[in-house]
Order: sequence, then C-alpha cells, then structure tokens
Amino acid sequence: MRGFRKVDIIIREMNKFDSLKCKELTVQLGYPDQLVDFDKRFSLINKLPHHHLVVAETVSDKNVVGWMHLEIRYLLVSSFKVEISAIVVDEKLRGHGIGKKLLNYAENWTKNCGFKDIFLYTNIIRENSHSFYLKFGYQNSKDSKMFIKMLDKPLSQNDLKVIIENKPDLKIENIKIQ
Ligand SMILES: CC(C)(COP(=O)(O)OP(=O)(O)OC[C@H]1O[C@@H](n2cnc3c(N)ncnc32)[C@H](O)[C@@H]1OP(=O)(O)O)[C@@H](O)C(=O)NCCC(=O)NCCS
Repeated sequence: MRGFRKVDIIIREMNKFDSLKCKELTVQLGYPDQLVDFDKRFSLINKLPHHHLVVAETVSDKNVVGWMHLEIRYLLVSSFKVEISAIVVDEKLRGHGIGKKLLNYAENWTKNCGFKDIFLYTNIIRENSHSFYLKFGYQNSKDSKMFIKMLDKPLSQNDLKVIIENKPDLKIENIKIQ
C-alpha cells in the first residue's frame, strides 16, 4: 500500500452532512461505543471558537476520507498550545499522503492562530501512528497515564445541549459539597 499514488484531497470544515462518514471513521479510530451523542457533540463543539473540526474530502468524488479535531489549549501552567485531539484517515486510503496533508494543515492553523507549539496524545498501543508523527518531526516528550473515574450520577440530568448552553452557575459558593 505504502508508496502508492497520492490521492487529491481538499481539507474543509466539517458540517452536519458529514456525520455518517465521520462516524464510520470514528469507529475505525477505535471509538465504536461513543457514537450516540456524536451529532450533539459536533453541533456544540462546532460553535466553540477555540475548536476546529475539518474533514479531508477527495477531489474526484467528494468522499470524506478523514477527519481531524484541533483545539487551542489555554493552559495556566505553560504556554498556550494547539492540540490535535483526533486525527483519522479511512483505512482503505491510508499511506496515500492524506494524513500528511492533515498534519500540514494542523501546523498551518496553529501558526495562523499565533502559536508555535502543537501536540497530541496517542495511546501507547498505536505504534503505527507513532512512526507517522516521528517522521514529521514530533518528539515523544513524555509517557503518561490517564486516570478516569465514573461518577455515580450527575447532579442534574439535563440534556447535553442544555448543560452547555445554559451552564449552571458554577461559582464556588454554589458548588454543593457532598
Ligand atoms: C496515522 C494516520 C492518520 C496516518 O495517515 P495516512 O494517510 O496513512 O498517512 P500518510 O499516507 O500521509 O503517511 C505519510 C508518511 O507517514 C509515514 N507513515 C504513515 N503511516 C505509517 C505507518 N502506519 N507506519 C509507518 N509509517 C507510516 C510514512 O512514511 C508515510 O509516507 P510514505 O508512505 O510516503 O513513505 C492513519 O494511519 C490513521 O488514521 N491511523 C488510525 C487512526 C490513528 O491511529 N490516529 C492517530 C491517533 S493519535
């Protein structure tokens, strides 16, 4: 597969009509059980100015063959950076230069936003993608562990949209300590 002809693509903003194909690619990325609220998450994230969702689309038949999520990370502990939160290319078209174009796009977006650092976290088991990032000058700066805790239940059962758009008053005096 590797070394095959390059596929002509354009990179454009993701829109709601890309949903089906983006979900398919999300399964390939390894998140088959995270599709339920995909469309809701898309429409919310898409409104946030520090997030950028794009797709790679073939010029020949306008087929979505990759997607990427970029986010400006406003950190107190270090300089602001851009994170590639997700990047995936259709498994049928890997090794055709599409990932490289997405990465170039991400780097240009970072520079256009005024930042010089771009980073990503990748699972230790994704060895294939490690070679990809190393090839393009990314260095493995640290290996970390992720800790997650599933809480019993949220204090309110609001719909995702309501939670984000009408954020409850989260000032410190209003947080109930249980
Ligand atoms: C990682 C990924 C985005 C790369 O996309 P891609 O379109 O296949 O990459 P490209 O064709 O642009 O590759 C560019 C160069 O990177 C290197 N590269 C890409 N994938 C590689 C792999 N699996 N192993 C070794 N080198 C690789 C190659 O040198 C390639 O150039 P060449 O084939 O012309 O020699 C894609 O493989 C993918 O979607 N993987 C599954 C999802 C994933 O792991 N995402 C990252 C999560 S952090």
